[in-house]
Amino acid sequence: MDGNGRWATQRGQPRAIGHVAGARAVAPITEAAARHGVQSLTLYAFSTDNWRRPSAETTTLMRLFGSYLSAETARCVATGTKLRVIGRRDRLPWPLVDRIREAEAATAAGTGLSLRIAIDYSSRDAIVRAASGEEVSPTRESFAARLGALDHAGVVPDVDLLIRTGGERRLSDFLLWECAYAELYFTPLLWPDFGPDDLTTALSDFADRERRFGALPQRAVG
Ligand code: IPE
Ligand code: MG
Repeated sequence: MDGNGRWATQRGQPRAIGHVAGARAVAPITEAAARHGVQSLTLYAFSTDNWRRPSAETTTLMRLFGSYLSAETARCVATGTKLRVIGRRDRLPWPLVDRIREAEAATAAGTGLSLRIAIDYSSRDAIVRAASGEEVSPTRESFAARLGALDHAGVVPDVDLLIRTGGERRLSDFLLWECAYAELYFTPLLWPDFGPDDLTTALSDFADRERRFGALPQRAVG
């Protein structure tokens, strides 16, 4: 979810206003994703490297995450959305950790969209920690399970479609293991401007792609 800062700057506003607009853009997208039958959606809200930003900005973001969770938990319960936050929690402010626990407990029985929000998340860190465990010769499956056991994630399914807004074309330490065969979709739209219609466009682009997972195309078989 990239482009909040630029969205605000373009309007002559402080970056924090862009983050508020970015938070407002989340609910319409999660609702639209559920309508499209998406089963799993992970939003990259704050990377471990985002701690390198000025503390005024990280403090604003932590507050916004807390108010998002307070405001959205009831809606997630109502729509059967199961919400989880992935990433390290030991550096988050304790009121936010409390809100995360409340939101996860309240939505745990949800059977609809599985919504993960990545906060203080680094895929490289997760891989290093999963690899430094005791298992001698892990398989891909057992390693994925170890990764999922970290950071409250539950096993994150392989990513089918990765959408990055804001015109950047990089992964920025997001779900590196899980993105092995992800289809990548880059859009110049800034995150606060990315709406349900843009999600529909991304999903139909995805539907047109031929996924081979290293095998031959269907028409070349037999
Ligand atoms: C939001 O966009 C991403 C977050 C870390 C919350 P940015 O804050 O990266 O916005 P730009 O890239 O400066 O426009
Ligand atoms: Mg950015």
